[in-house]
Amino acid sequence: MSQTPKQYTLNPPLDEADLLAEPIDQLRLWIDAAREAGMIEPTAMTLATVGDDGQPSARIVLCKGFHDGGVCFYTNYEGRKGRELDAHPQAALVFWWDKLERQVRLEGRVERLSREASLAYFRERPRASQIGAYTSRQSAVVATRGELDARMQANEQAFAGGDVPLPEFWGGYVLRPQAVEFWQGRRDRLHDRLCYVRSAASWRVERLEP
Ligand SMILES: Cc1cc2nc3c(=O)[nH]c(=O)nc-3n(C[C@H](O)[C@H](O)[C@H](O)COP(=O)(O)O)c2cc1C
Repeated sequence: MSQTPKQYTLNPPLDEADLLAEPIDQLRLWIDAAREAGMIEPTAMTLATVGDDGQPSARIVLCKGFHDGGVCFYTNYEGRKGRELDAHPQAALVFWWDKLERQVRLEGRVERLSREASLAYFRERPRASQIGAYTSRQSAVVATRGELDARMQANEQAFAGGDVPLPEFWGGYVLRPQAVEFWQGRRDRLHDRLCYVRSAASWRVERLEP
């Protein structure tokens, strides 16, 4: 494991003057750049939540847009992350784009999106994904794969010929950040870190040591 550490040299320095006024706009730019760089899932982000016992848990979800200065994602409200977010509506998100040598971290409060917004997104999804969302009791233990496949088949038949309804237990969340850090790799571990911190109605940008 004692390999020479990689030198990050791809980008020019990240200066305070380079940042847009709103961190979400800056994040959009970096996601677009990751897409242009050919990353398979440029919107993939790690979502960290916390349980009643203080145990953090983290998993990847996809950023599916922006709402009112926040970052949106969709999931099952009754799975582990859904239950944790409903009990402790504070979370962290992390993007990492290796092809760009960039990371973004966000922290803030999380709220459910409206049913209308969730329905609008659900309607855009392929039909099989809609039935899949209906079928999965996310995070529950299942005895066999066959049991899940059989439930999927039964639901395909149940909804044949009609619209798949938006499940009560499925929808979106928005994380409205209090802090957003943009990290860009530099030589010799002296990376650039610029963090937007909410200050009343605007943002203050702080440079952090790497
Ligand atoms: C690339 C990728 C994208 C994913 N996108 C989502 C997503 O948007 N929503 C979701 O609920 N799970 C998504 N998952 C699955 C989650 O990582 C996780 O397994 C699932 O949501 C269950 O998490 P939980 O048991 O902590 O609630 C994705 C996984 C990967 C690897």
